[in-house]
Amino acid sequence: MKYLFQLIFLVGHFAAFSASAKVNDAYTYANYDQVTTSHIYLDLAVDFEQKSLSGFAELSLNWLTDETVPVTLDTRDLIIEKVLAKNQAGQWHKVSHRLAKRDDVLGAKLTVNNKFQASKLRIYYHSLPQASGLQWLTPEQTAGKKQPFMFSQNQAIHARSWIPIQDTPSVRVTYTARITTDPSLLAVMSANNTPDTDRDGDYFFTMPQAIPSYLIAIAVGDLEFKAMSKQTGIYAEHSIIDAAVAEFDDTQAMIDASEKLFGAYRWGRYDLLILPPSFPFGGMENPRLSFITPTVIAGDKSLVNLIAHELAHSWSGNLVTNESWRDLWLNEGFTSYVENRIMEEVFGVDRAVMEQALGAQDLNYEIAELSPGDTQLYIDLKGRDPDDAFSGVPYVKGQLFLMYLEEKFGRERFDKFILAYFNSHAFESLGTTNFIKYLKKHLTHKYPNIVSDTEVNEWIYEQGLPTYVPKPTSNAFTTIDVQISSWLASEITLAQLPTTKWTLHEWLHFINNLPVNLAIEKMAELDQAYNLTNSSNAEIAHAWYLLSLRAGYNEVLPAMEQYLISIGRRKLIVPLYKALAESEQGMAWAKKVYLKARPGYHPLAQGTVDGILNN
Ligand code: BES
Ligand code: ZN
Repeated sequence: MKYLFQLIFLVGHFAAFSASAKVNDAYTYANYDQVTTSHIYLDLAVDFEQKSLSGFAELSLNWLTDETVPVTLDTRDLIIEKVLAKNQAGQWHKVSHRLAKRDDVLGAKLTVNNKFQASKLRIYYHSLPQASGLQWLTPEQTAGKKQPFMFSQNQAIHARSWIPIQDTPSVRVTYTARITTDPSLLAVMSANNTPDTDRDGDYFFTMPQAIPSYLIAIAVGDLEFKAMSKQTGIYAEHSIIDAAVAEFDDTQAMIDASEKLFGAYRWGRYDLLILPPSFPFGGMENPRLSFITPTVIAGDKSLVNLIAHELAHSWSGNLVTNESWRDLWLNEGFTSYVENRIMEEVFGVDRAVMEQALGAQDLNYEIAELSPGDTQLYIDLKGRDPDDAFSGVPYVKGQLFLMYLEEKFGRERFDKFILAYFNSHAFESLGTTNFIKYLKKHLTHKYPNIVSDTEVNEWIYEQGLPTYVPKPTSNAFTTIDVQISSWLASEITLAQLPTTKWTLHEWLHFINNLPVNLAIEKMAELDQAYNLTNSSNAEIAHAWYLLSLRAGYNEVLPAMEQYLISIGRRKLIVPLYKALAESEQGMAWAKKVYLKARPGYHPLAQGTVDGILNN
């Protein structure tokens, strides 16, 4: 009997994956080859006590088949109360539904039975406290310490943990929403936020442009707004808003630069939301309102490439979208390329090249550690959670591929190609195969004998980096390499290094290129000279802690403990936990710190760090 159930389960599992094969995205249960959602209306109450969103989602359906078939949707840890369906004559009927057993990766398939082809479905539901796409913060976890905070992070497949939905980047929807909260809190969404809205706990949003589910976003907290320009502004808690405005006041210049290069910004306003430090990413490109970690507020604009990055997604990702998570490089590689072009326009070519070089060096280290299959641009996810296969490959290898094309065809031709690519695929999703077709037609075959099909295939389908990969070189970095050697050979002292003139990038290159087995005395000498252990720049501190762990320089531990407790950004904390886990002592120390840090982390970060420390 037991085996029979297992067999049925297995067959069901494979059926889910193979049924989706014909529609490209293996990470959804939605039968989006038969019916698609065109619009969603969300009516949700935000309950901080229960850590729950509750209400209903109304899905407007667009039928692609003549048959009347069930509608299958994605959910994860949702409690479905009832489902109503509207027939073509406009009457609502209660319809039956079934929630399948929860799959660890995909969640639970919701099947809604139809006696007719419903024009709309209304699903009454509420989310659970463990929703993977939401983080509920207590007042103590915020900057102001008085009010709670809640935010969503849908990418890759977490929309389903707070909305019953066709959770695939292949389907685009417009949306409207009514969100009710405590009147002292402000709700914002990836939609038309109106800065002067009445704070009455009853908020209405419209998103008239069709976007994939992973870009639907919400945050609720004790937020204020400050304008930076007519088109841009910041939502943040009171105590950090001025620092954020000062840090990011080049945002308008970035928009202007991107419009010049890649065509009109099509989304109306562009605002930034500064989240509490537990936000698990650097940024998230939610349309009209990028979500941003406070760890990039360094005081000197040294980390604002993050803003250029999230803004760049307004073209690559949000306008032209990867159709599945295997094609993530189409989003992130293009965005990293566009980000760097924006940085070059606004901050000059030297800084842009330094950022390329830092990225390329990180990528080389990362590729050495990754399992070879994960170094392909068109990645084989093998049924894993897309979060578990996350790396710098789609970003930097993707960027290097586009830099290679730029180098080969010349900037003028390549810019025209990208502009036309964005315009011809605006508000569409596409995959790697269709991209290659477009690339050949409009670039590599149009100007033949410059880049071969073999090379294109090598970049996209092969592991590692081609031998002919561009090697960004910064003269400033070359100088630092020489200085490091001279200092190590005791030919110069630290006092002779021109560090007061160094930018963040030079600092990072310096720290990243010190030998990993540097003697403790040398580490101490550096620390005495530059107080790196207490650096207020989150990236410098990160690089220094990593080096310290490798060199066995334990002086950093108290400061690093504070760092790990106060920051939840995965990119900054995960490599530290990984390095700690390499030694028995480090592992014990990490577990102790994690006990204190874990409650403040986002579910995603908790999942990743749990995986590292429990192995
Ligand atoms: N869209 C990503 C974040 C993301 C990717 C979330 C995949 C979930 C799955 C965002 O635009 C991003 O790439 N952020 C980076 C920015 C950095 C490369 C400048 C980050 O968070 O560090
Ligand atoms: Zn990105």
